[in-house]
Formats: sequence, C-alpha cells, structure tokens
Amino acid sequence: MQRIAVLTSGGDAPGMNAAVRAIVRTALYYKMDVFGIRYGYKGLIENELFQMSSRDVANIIQRGGTVLKTARSKEFLTKEGRAKAAEHLKENGIEGLVVIGGDGSFKGAEILEQEHGIKVIGVPGTIDRDIAGTEYTIGFDTAVNTAMEAIDKIRDTAAAHERLFVVEVMGRDAGYIALNSGIATGAEEILVPERITNVERVVQLINYDQKRKKNVHIIVVAEGDGFGAEALTEILAKKYPEMEVRLSVLGHMQRGGSPTYYDRVQASKMGYHAVLGLREGKTGMMVGLQKNEIVFVDFGDGCKKHLEINQEMLDMVKVLSQ
Ligand code: F6P
Repeated sequence: MQRIAVLTSGGDAPGMNAAVRAIVRTALYYKMDVFGIRYGYKGLIENELFQMSSRDVANIIQRGGTVLKTARSKEFLTKEGRAKAAEHLKENGIEGLVVIGGDGSFKGAEILEQEHGIKVIGVPGTIDRDIAGTEYTIGFDTAVNTAMEAIDKIRDTAAAHERLFVVEVMGRDAGYIALNSGIATGAEEILVPERITNVERVVQLINYDQKRKKNVHIIVVAEGDGFGAEALTEILAKKYPEMEVRLSVLGHMQRGGSPTYYDRVQASKMGYHAVLGLREGKTGMMVGLQKNEIVFVDFGDGCKKHLEINQEMLDMVKVLSQ
C-alpha cells in the first residue's frame, strides 16, 4: 500500500491528535504518502484532502481537540454521499483509510468498504468508551480526570454549605464516565443508564445518611440515565429543602483539555498499529485494547454493541461511600 488517508469523525476526544501524529509519522517512516482529511466524512465528500508531512503533526501530541477538525455528516449516510467520498479517495490514489471516531463512524467506514472496496481501519476515539471489543477508547481517561477534578471542587463547596449536589456528566447512553469519576471522588450515589434508577433507593440512602449526621452528598448522574439529573434534582430539592439541593451539569468541558499521559501513549500505540495493520492488508477492523494488548477486532463482531458495564463496581459504591 502506497498511499493512505486519515480523518477524525464524530465528537472530538483528547488524544485524537496523538493518534493523527502517530499515523502520519508511521506512514512516512514506511515511505507511504499520507493525506489528512479535514472535517471527517463531510470533508471527504467536499474533497478537503491535503498531503501531510512530518512537520504538519509537530507540537500537537499535547493538544486537545483535533487538528483535522471533525463533523457529523448526514450526506455520508446516503449512497450518493458515499460515492462522492469514494471518488475523492480514488482520484487521489488513496488505497487505505484510517477513521478515528466512535461506532457510528465505524459503521460508515464498513459500508464504504463494502460498496467501494476502500481498505479501512478504525481507531476508537470517544470520551464515552462505549465501544465493545476494546477496553479503552481515546479521550476517556482525560474526560474522567476532568470530571473528577470538577467534582472534587464541587465537593469543597458542598462541604462548606453542607449541601447535596447532583452532578451530571457526559457519556451519551453509557455510564462509564459517571461510574469512574463517581468512584474516584467518593460519590455517595452513582446513577447510570445500565441500571434502572430507583429514586426510592436514593431517598432511603439520604435518610440513612442524615441519621448518621452525614450531611454532604454528591450524586453523580450519567447524562443518559433514564430518570435524568434534572428530574432527580427537582424531587430531592422538594423533599430536602434544608439541604439546599443544587444541580451542576459539567457538559463539554469534559471533551477538552490536554490529554493525560495515558491517552497520549495509547492513542500513539493505536495510530501506529493502524498503519501496520493496513500495511499487512487488514481491513474492516478496529484497533482495540484487550488485557493491555493491541488487538484487531472485526467491525461486525466487536464494535456494534456497547461494552458491558462492570456491575461489581456499581455495587461497590454503596460499600465505599458509607
Ligand atoms: O460522544 C461524545 C459526546 O460528548 C457525548 O458524551 C455527548 O452525549 C455528545 O457527544 C454531545 O454531542 P454534541 O457535542 O453534539 O452536543
């Protein structure tokens, strides 16, 4: 394979730049041409391709966001949109494509391969960590650390006022950011979409805590939790007016910032292996991490369903927050 391209797609994630850097430099090391595609599939349809040199990825390993920019493309969901995308790859002589993104982006890559024979490798990049077949996705570690630092700060003010805080964290319909940031900050309760929220149980817990004179509460709620952080806040505010219940929605700050060492290293490994995979003729696969080893997982097998949440960790919250 002589010429490959790389794009970032869907929500950005800290560490995507480290992956882009690794892909560009690995390709150049093996004397391949490498093209960047701006704005994900949207940019591919609009022919936003440019040849990249080693200097184009200098000084980016430590930066959040993605230098290639990202977008969500409706047109790529259509046959006509994908035909335009494939045409631009072919007229530039590109044989292999690395897609850094989430499961939606991989579905697109899989169809592009089936319809137009382009070789594709996926690199999992999403703060949500909601892709099966890999224990790690780029950006998750940084996002959890960002949420953890924010919740630590909220706990300071919660303790000063003896308040109850409901903190909503990101994750789309997955609870990994909530579970991990909640455990890391000693949250009294963690609510995730993977377990049905029982408000009565939350109320019992607060009543029990009040009896024990525990008067600071942090409840971390994943944005995809069926009950919802806002509805829960309203109920608790009515029930416990003396606790001055507050809601804090952390939002997009969780997607930004300089990636942690872990995100930089894993993203570099995944980018490096994505290019090695293409060189070996692999296609229709995602680079994943299992038991700390790099693996290749068929899009069809691993990437479509979500990773199961660790129920034991959820159960542990009750024990550790006593
Ligand atoms: O997938 C990453 C993510 O940040 C989710 O956690 C969140 O639900 C979503 O993207 C937000 O998307 P947008 O930036 O389009 O509001």
